[in-house]
Amino acid sequence: MPTLVQPPTLPEPRGPISMSVIDLLAERAPLRYLAKVETSLADADPAGIDLQLALYTCYELHYRGFDKVDSGWEWNAGLLYLRGHLEDLFLADVRKQVGEIEPDATALDELDALCVEPVNGDGPSYYLRDEGTWDQMREYFAHRSLYHLKEGDPHAWAIPRLTGQAKASFVAVEFDEFGAGKGARLHQQLFADLMAAADLDTTYLGYLDHVPAEALAVVNLMSMFGLHRRLRGCAVGHFAATEVTSPPGSRRMVQALERMGAPTECRAFYEEHVEADAVHEQVVRTDVVGDLVRREPDLDQDVVFGIRAFDAVENRLAEHLMRSWRDGRSSLRRALD
Ligand SMILES: [Fe+2]
Ligand SMILES: [Fe+2]
Repeated sequence: MPTLVQPPTLPEPRGPISMSVIDLLAERAPLRYLAKVETSLADADPAGIDLQLALYTCYELHYRGFDKVDSGWEWNAGLLYLRGHLEDLFLADVRKQVGEIEPDATALDELDALCVEPVNGDGPSYYLRDEGTWDQMREYFAHRSLYHLKEGDPHAWAIPRLTGQAKASFVAVEFDEFGAGKGARLHQQLFADLMAAADLDTTYLGYLDHVPAEALAVVNLMSMFGLHRRLRGCAVGHFAATEVTSPPGSRRMVQALERMGAPTECRAFYEEHVEADAVHEQVVRTDVVGDLVRREPDLDQDVVFGIRAFDAVENRLAEHLMRSWRDGRSSLRRALD
């Protein structure tokens, strides 16, 4: 069984912002005083690789940290101050992309709309099902490895911020994500098994230096929602959108992998999601979102935003993948071995 415990190494900087964060982490965390992190954000592109990588690196301190990095940085006020600015820029950019939310939009209507999927869409899972190559499939795994090797973790930050049935049902779904009591069945582990079977690196964050900003933004969004109590409605919306869109997308991935004659372990990960998420979808709709908005109606629009924000960042990644593949290019910044 591929192991998931190797500590990740710091990524390579991609510009001045990520450089200032990564260089800092190589030092010892200062104690008891606020060390100002010098970097200019005046011209920062919120969707660009430099800012997304800097933000990703900051968030990672709350997950597993990095090899040879002082864990004291996790709560360093100077670094958190910088992270706050990066988050403001990122969130404003996603809000711009999502646009105004109509005052009468509700989370439950939004989830119903998400369930209606085009039979012949034009996203990556349709493309991989119908005509993509095995090399493109491996690239897809590399992009997705950032999330799937920590699947369940970013949403788990929301648990203490929920109460009642919403909390109980949220945890019931997460219980499955975390293998329902069996380490070998952790979805993170199932994805590591998939990576090994596809002859890819199973190391946690093993492809951090390979993926573009669009793939980082997908995970940064859930970390941001999860780590801020004020964004808990968005975290639940994001969680719900993830579960509701998973079964049809996973079904297409199974079909793609069957067409390619891929190893069993590769199919197993997506087969698990066709089955489990069909159940999760119902639980999430009624018992998580339904209960939350009944309990805290003020969060309804935040849940809607979380759902649309999920869609917005996923679309950016999908557009990037399709543009690269249609042009006959790799969708990664660094080619796979
Ligand atoms: Fe899962
Ligand atoms: Fe699920």
